[in-house]
Amino acid sequence: SIAQGTDEGGWDSPRDASGLRAAELSVVLPSFNEAGNIPILIDLLDKALSGIAWEAIVVDDNSPDGTTEVARKIAGVDPRVRVIRRIGRRGLSGACIEGILSSSAPFVAIMDADLQHDETLLPKMFAAIKSDDTDLVVASRKVEGGTVGEGLSAIRAWGSNIANGLAQKLLNVTLSDPMSGFFMVRRDKAEALAPRLSPQGFKILLDLVSSANGTLKIKELPFTFRERQHGESKLDTLVTLDYFGLLLAKYFGDIVSVRFLMFGLVGASGLFVHLVALRFFLLGGMEFNLAQTAASFVAMTSNFFLNNQLTYRDRRLRGVRALIGLLTFYAVCSVGVLANVGVANLIYADPVYWWVAGTAGAVMGAVWNYAASSALTWRR
Ligand code: GDD
Ligand code: MN
Repeated sequence: SIAQGTDEGGWDSPRDASGLRAAELSVVLPSFNEAGNIPILIDLLDKALSGIAWEAIVVDDNSPDGTTEVARKIAGVDPRVRVIRRIGRRGLSGACIEGILSSSAPFVAIMDADLQHDETLLPKMFAAIKSDDTDLVVASRKVEGGTVGEGLSAIRAWGSNIANGLAQKLLNVTLSDPMSGFFMVRRDKAEALAPRLSPQGFKILLDLVSSANGTLKIKELPFTFRERQHGESKLDTLVTLDYFGLLLAKYFGDIVSVRFLMFGLVGASGLFVHLVALRFFLLGGMEFNLAQTAASFVAMTSNFFLNNQLTYRDRRLRGVRALIGLLTFYAVCSVGVLANVGVANLIYADPVYWWVAGTAGAVMGAVWNYAASSALTWRR
């Protein structure tokens, strides 16, 4: 039985008969290869959060370095620690979303598991989000008093400024550090927005704020980004590409998804590959129809691998499943060609409209390929 009430520690969450407190604050710790950092971080949280009924939720994407096992060992002796192990999925944002959705506490903090985020800021964030009309508290490296410190290399700091500037200009987001991965949010607010968030990349905060469309009351607190001690950063070119994808998708009012945009870009690259291959086969003396068919297969193959690496990297197919995926992708794209030609034929009337018909056909083909391949090739 759970008894309600406040007592000594300043805690006001319910407590069960054995004296255990329900968490008021869940700290979501997304992790990939952080085995060396998790035990240190849990100790630091224990020190920083005395007086708060907290729990930690480690969301690990099946790290090869055994992070899950390390975290489970701690959870085995400390009931405040929980572990979610995700198999076959990758993505910082997606891990954070799952952590948030698994919480029952009224407040949730998102924090890197690599000790770069200053855990001593958590009580201040907690006080801020509890006291007044605040839905979201962002720990910012860019607000007065905050700094990127030793945490970012010169080139990363420069890139980060450009990314921020774009977010502010394109999306009208007033956050000083929209790329921060350190924030605290009311769980019900985040939960309501969760269906609209993209699971890929590192952009959860920007996604949350821009999806909320000005309905979140936000406060920013300064902090200093620490240097990484163990392990390495997972922010790479793909993560950066993905971020720009979100900016574009949001800028166009979410009419097209980031995924469709990526699919379209890959498709455009396929046209280039097709032309290069066609030229090559023709030079090699191949008859045109055969060369055209062969070039189509080269382009489809290249599109498949690019989509598998980029567009669907969270559902990436490997081994035999990649081979089967490639075959279904060929099948999907062949029907796509029929859809393309069919629509173009319907519209084509006069020489003046050749490019309208051609574009409509291509768009139809792309929409078909996208819908069918996400349902067949990269199905969940
Ligand atoms: N579950 C899961 N899955 N966790 C991940 C993944 C993933 O695919 N990729 C990264 N993480 C975890 C890391 O283990 C770490 O705890 C945290 O997410 C941040 O990842 P880092 O790889 O350390 O990122 P960073 O330090 O380079 O980037 C920092 O700055 C960015 C902006 O400059 C982070 O604070 C980012 O959140 C921030 O966007
Ligand atoms: Mn880091």
